[in-house]
Amino acid sequence: MIEKIKELIEEVEQFKIDTKENAEQLRLKFLSKKGIIAEIFSEFKKVEPAQKKEYGQRINSLKQKVEEKLALAQEALEEKFQKQNDIDITLPGPNFGLGSHHPITMVTNEIISIFSKLGFTVAEGQEIEDDYHNFSALNFPPEHPARDMQDTFFIETNPDILLRTHTSGGQVRVMEKQKPPIRVLVPGRVFRNEAISARSHCIFHQIEGLYIDKKVSFADLKQTLMYFAKEFYGEKTEIRLRPSYFPFTEPSAEMDVSCSICGGKGCTICKNTGWLEVLGCGMVHPNVLKNCGIDPEEYSGFAFGMGIERTAMLRYGVTDIRMFFENDMKFLSRFKY
Ligand code: DAH
Repeated sequence: MIEKIKELIEEVEQFKIDTKENAEQLRLKFLSKKGIIAEIFSEFKKVEPAQKKEYGQRINSLKQKVEEKLALAQEALEEKFQKQNDIDITLPGPNFGLGSHHPITMVTNEIISIFSKLGFTVAEGQEIEDDYHNFSALNFPPEHPARDMQDTFFIETNPDILLRTHTSGGQVRVMEKQKPPIRVLVPGRVFRNEAISARSHCIFHQIEGLYIDKKVSFADLKQTLMYFAKEFYGEKTEIRLRPSYFPFTEPSAEMDVSCSICGGKGCTICKNTGWLEVLGCGMVHPNVLKNCGIDPEEYSGFAFGMGIERTAMLRYGVTDIRMFFENDMKFLSRFKY
């Protein structure tokens, strides 16, 4: 019997535990109610009295061996499990993919960077404006149709407060604070009470330009806009100025650029004219200068304003203005670069 226990101790020593399952096998085989140790104990009665002491000791050491072995294995297995699940904080994190700028932001930034080479800086106007800065100071006659309730979102409780219909009010705010020379751009969001369609929206963006100094002439305006058109639409671009009317400029003009899609030959984008209408401009009206405390005898200047959505539509071949406001990921991810 004693020999058998010795063999069992050896068996336990040799037993290899590398999984939870075979640790459990060992436990069941030796320590369970019907296991080997319980069985050997039950034979204790049959052992001769002289051998009882040694027999007992041997059983105890067998039991101890199994328990030790299991405890050690348990520790090793836990360590292994821990290692497998440890987070290595030095590893690079999961890749979330880079976002991109909105096409309206991209076009705005590009226009700003072109004019900044000529010394233009950026000023912020305000989206909630008063009638004075949006209309009166810009020489809009009291009965001008642009003030009509259909075009302008007025604040109901105070008809003097409105959502700006253009960024031109930013000119006034700059001239009120700053003395010439002034070279400034006012980009921003504007609002008009118009039906939403593929070609127009009630919210859109504009960028306003203003240049005031001594002896600024229409030739300066034309040259500045030509430089812009070539930088933005391409070296071969030609420009054309058509007479127009804006209350805050005199003379006023609208600028067309030769169609960048067909190169001026005529296509669906330019409606077969070879020209694209891109901005309004003119020499700042003396009344506007006066309203802002600038002497029109001493100073003159030009202003221009363009719609960012329209510019972006031409640049990227977008045919529906609503796409810029839908936050459609498929559309926006086209503008990654
Ligand atoms: N504010 C005009 C508009 O919303 C655009 C414009 C035209 C701005 C002529 C100007 C300008 O500064 O000189 O249609």
